[in-house]
Amino acid sequence: MADATALEALAREIAGCRRCALAAGRTYAVPGEGNPSAEIMFIGEGPGFNEDQTGRPFCGAAGQFLTQLIESIGLKRQDVYITNIVKSRPPGNRDPLPEEILACKPWLDRQLEIIKPKVIVTLGRFSMARFFPGATISRIHGQAEKCGAYTCFAMYHPAAALHQGSLRSVIEADMLKLPKILEDIRKSERPAAPAAQTEPAPAEAHSQLKLFGF
Ligand code: URA
Repeated sequence: MADATALEALAREIAGCRRCALAAGRTYAVPGEGNPSAEIMFIGEGPGFNEDQTGRPFCGAAGQFLTQLIESIGLKRQDVYITNIVKSRPPGNRDPLPEEILACKPWLDRQLEIIKPKVIVTLGRFSMARFFPGATISRIHGQAEKCGAYTCFAMYHPAAALHQGSLRSVIEADMLKLPKILEDIRKSERPAAPAAQTEPAPAEAHSQLKLFGF
């Protein structure tokens, strides 16, 4: 059982973070939201305009598509955990800089320690680079790979479908692979069933009867 209180305390620390220059330009930091015991954690790039205004991840157009994708596998946003590689909005939605990603890394590390998801889904290039260094999204999207204690699964960023319509069905198809990946992990973690109780062998049965004076 993950610790909701620890996650809330961490969110307060993130809200006051001044480890990089993004702090100066943000309205709200966007720590992340969802189930503290989530089995699936989605990691995007960084807050955009809407997220900066509300303090909530993926609440704009890309977020609507992400919500649909989550619902397509029978889950709700509240069932999973959604966060970003950087917790403050890069100005004008530019790409996060390497030093910003590095400054924000301890926050994501601590979120992972608390939530301990079974599957990390990277959304887009920047979170993919953290878990699949050197990989190319067009090659590895839709494939699960073991990364230390986690299983990682790379997907295109939902916003990519808004800019390039042909990616929509690719993203939808990748998402539909998640339930089986999760079920396979759950199965592998289940303790082995106890050996079936067998009848005692005849000789053993005989000596047991003797023990009771028959
Ligand atoms: N894009 C992201 O990567 N993250 C958000 O929270 C919103 C849009």
